Amino acid sequence: MTVRVVVGAQFGDEAKGKIADFLAASARYVVRSAGGPNTGHTVVLPEGPVVLHQLACGVLRHGVTGISGPGMVIQPFKFEEELNGLRERGLLRGEVLISDRAHVLLRLHELEDIWEDELRGRHRPEASLGTTKSGIGPAYADRAGRFGLRVGELSRPAVLRERLELLYATKGHLAGVPPIEELAGQLTEVGARLAPMVRTTEPLLWDVIARGENVLLEGAQSALLDVDFGTYPYVTSSHPTSAGALVGSGIPPTALDEVVGVAKAYCTRVGAGPFPTEDSGERGEYLRRVGGERGATTGRPRRCGWLDLVLLRYVARLNGLTSLAITKVDVLGGIGDVPVCTAYRMPDGTVVRDGPPTSADELASAEPVYDERPGWPEFHARRTERVRREGAAALPGELRRFLEFIEDETGVPVEYVGYGAHRDETVWLGPRTARRRPSALPAWSG
Ligand code: IMP
Repeated sequence: MTVRVVVGAQFGDEAKGKIADFLAASARYVVRSAGGPNTGHTVVLPEGPVVLHQLACGVLRHGVTGISGPGMVIQPFKFEEELNGLRERGLLRGEVLISDRAHVLLRLHELEDIWEDELRGRHRPEASLGTTKSGIGPAYADRAGRFGLRVGELSRPAVLRERLELLYATKGHLAGVPPIEELAGQLTEVGARLAPMVRTTEPLLWDVIARGENVLLEGAQSALLDVDFGTYPYVTSSHPTSAGALVGSGIPPTALDEVVGVAKAYCTRVGAGPFPTEDSGERGEYLRRVGGERGATTGRPRRCGWLDLVLLRYVARLNGLTSLAITKVDVLGGIGDVPVCTAYRMPDGTVVRDGPPTSADELASAEPVYDERPGWPEFHARRTERVRREGAAALPGELRRFLEFIEDETGVPVEYVGYGAHRDETVWLGPRTARRRPSALPAWSG
């Protein structure tokens, strides 16, 4: 039995969807623990690519249940659209459940999100966060402020009405908010359609774990976007860390066995915020083009740069990573030496290896110190096919040494490597050396 968490180890878009889908093959339940329509997890199936926003990737596999968990903020109309889209394509293969504790994200949250980010930008252009405009911040703010409406309340008309009245008393004045009667009617209808899937999911998961079945917690967004431990205020409004995944699914910490951190062999970011290794030149443009680096939810071009081990070491500690999945290694094939940031030189001349600065403006002033690692050859079709057939043994030697370098620098074994977009283009490196728990990591010098 294994309870495993998959977390993003950079700024998001590390191909978590692909790794979560790979690991879902051996899971009975997959739980999305945080976020909402801001998420875009891409899985490339033989039938074509699927982008999951509010559904857990388990729904793409027969015999697996995908739970949209208690820590999520769910836009019910978009949820239904996503579900129907998968049904129409014949790709809805697993069971779908929605936690009754998940919060409902409404049109008024989307409007508030757009208005707030504009306001920040008018105050100072750099203050705009570049959110996905999907209402995440306001929906989580209402949850914390005790104004929220929960999915389980959609089928309780009196409670629904009461919650809406309270919400409208605080923000019903926003331009574009539909009349309360109209919204209450629409929510009741969508609630009735979703009701067969709505469940109190945590007791179900406790039983499943007690029975010894495998559970996968599919984190959305990424550790560096965590509202407390990310690059605040350039963060999302949830906790996309391993601890957050437990809170967001109702699973106790003592049940957790493995924490898989997913990082690209380089790095990207969408939206505003510090990004020390960003490459605004031709090489960054190359990564964007060859890596297809556009936001899966918003279509925005992603900012591109190089692997940052200062941040990765921090994320490894913060999440207690027991293994790493390094993705998109094919994108770097054939580019020559690969820059990897091993430390920061700060404006006062100090060199930082661990403990990146807490404040966003200090992090933005860090100058990366690069180690140029020998690159590996291009992943042409023949090589890709060989890796698919023969597994890890067919990975180029230079790439294996690159992965070992990451292991040595972070103290976390690399167990999975993504070498292409397709579902089967992930290789498991086999049972590695004994897993190094965080206590066995090198001393923290930050
Ligand atoms: P929000 O989550 O829409 O509030 O956006 C806050 C910040 O997080 C923005 O910089 C977004 O671009 C970023 N963000 C939110 N969700 C994702 C994601 O799934 N991938 C990458 N970045 C994200």
